[in-house]
Amino acid sequence: MSEGLEGVIAARTILSHVDGQRGRLILRGRRLEDLAGQTDLEGIAALLWYGLGAGDPNPQTLRARFGRQRQSAFARLPGLLARVGPLQPMEALRFMVASLPDGDPCDDAPAQERVTAAIPVFLAGILRHATGEAPVAPDPALNQAADFLAMLGGKAASAAEIAALETYLVTVADHGLNASTFAARVIASTQAGTISAVTGALCALKGPLHGGAPGPVLDMFDAITESGDTKAWLEAAIDGGERLMGFGHRVYRVRDPRADVLKQVVVSLKDGDNRIAFAEAVEATALAVLAAKKPGRRLDTNVEFYTALALQALGIPRAAFTALFAMGRVVGWCAHIMEQERTGRLIRPSADYVGPEVSAA
Ligand code: CMC
Repeated sequence: MSEGLEGVIAARTILSHVDGQRGRLILRGRRLEDLAGQTDLEGIAALLWYGLGAGDPNPQTLRARFGRQRQSAFARLPGLLARVGPLQPMEALRFMVASLPDGDPCDDAPAQERVTAAIPVFLAGILRHATGEAPVAPDPALNQAADFLAMLGGKAASAAEIAALETYLVTVADHGLNASTFAARVIASTQAGTISAVTGALCALKGPLHGGAPGPVLDMFDAITESGDTKAWLEAAIDGGERLMGFGHRVYRVRDPRADVLKQVVVSLKDGDNRIAFAEAVEATALAVLAAKKPGRRLDTNVEFYTALALQALGIPRAAFTALFAMGRVVGWCAHIMEQERTGRLIRPSADYVGPEVSAA
């Protein structure tokens, strides 16, 4: 038995391979570094979904189909926004995604297209609503990244901003059997439906040990700046039993390859709120402190460290970072859901009962 299921193989997949020893991420036979910056979310959806669902997705048809679905999601938005109250962005997104039907009698578009297209519309609407601004209608001619930024900011984003967000979304689109993807596959294995499985995945993504780390990375930067002594702050955090956000990984024993891709995104946004030199100094000190304090364990930089800076430079509010992660990862969840539905079996492991024996009556 392994408490965290380390080393347990729980699915067979053609979708992605996380090579933790060599620091490589392979998506259907392509290295992440060869995809990031070369394609957009539509392109990665076409790659991951190919052969799994109905039809034959390609980036152009998906762009048009996502555009139509963003318009459908926008029609639902006012009724949903009226009910989000004081929910945090991730909670509001969870509520809105959960409201989608698994099978829509009024729309025969596949659920993976409906939910993937709905997330940027919902998230932009949630963020504008939080600042008292009216939602901005989608432009179905744009891709997901460009339209999200336009719906969020109320004006067309720059080419550099769109490229940066495309790279981010592609970088986080899929990553083996991480906690949220596993949650999605467990739910899909019961034949509950795609929207139910994506809703469960969103819930798993929310935690700081998975998708909730980049906001706290910025909190850490703020606290270090305030303290004026990077090394002392990091040492005190570890001595106090805290984990340094943006470091460590269950699978990678070397540097997470996504960290460097996203570091380049931060560099490309050099006109934004760019704290790259400061971040590099914190990273170097943190790695030295972790090596000294946790000598038995190789702890390196993970995807969330530079994600935090990239999303901040794009003007995304800190509280929305995890929800933005979902905008990319939903493509991977849907691929795994389709794969599980086609080839998988009900996932139902056993537990080692260590409770009391039946007491005599
Ligand atoms: N800071 C300080 N110590 C750490 C950290 C860290 N970030 N990560 C692991 N450790 C220590 C941990 O305390 C333990 O030490 P000890 O043996 O002395 O108790 C040792 O390393 C092994 O830890 P573990 O809990 O077995 O490691 P894990 O494989 O379960 O943890 C992790 C993986 C990502 C949950 C963990 O590294 C962590 O909490 N990191 C900080 C949060 C974070 O950055 N999350 C984003 C993960 S990347 C996004 C994704 O792909 O989902």
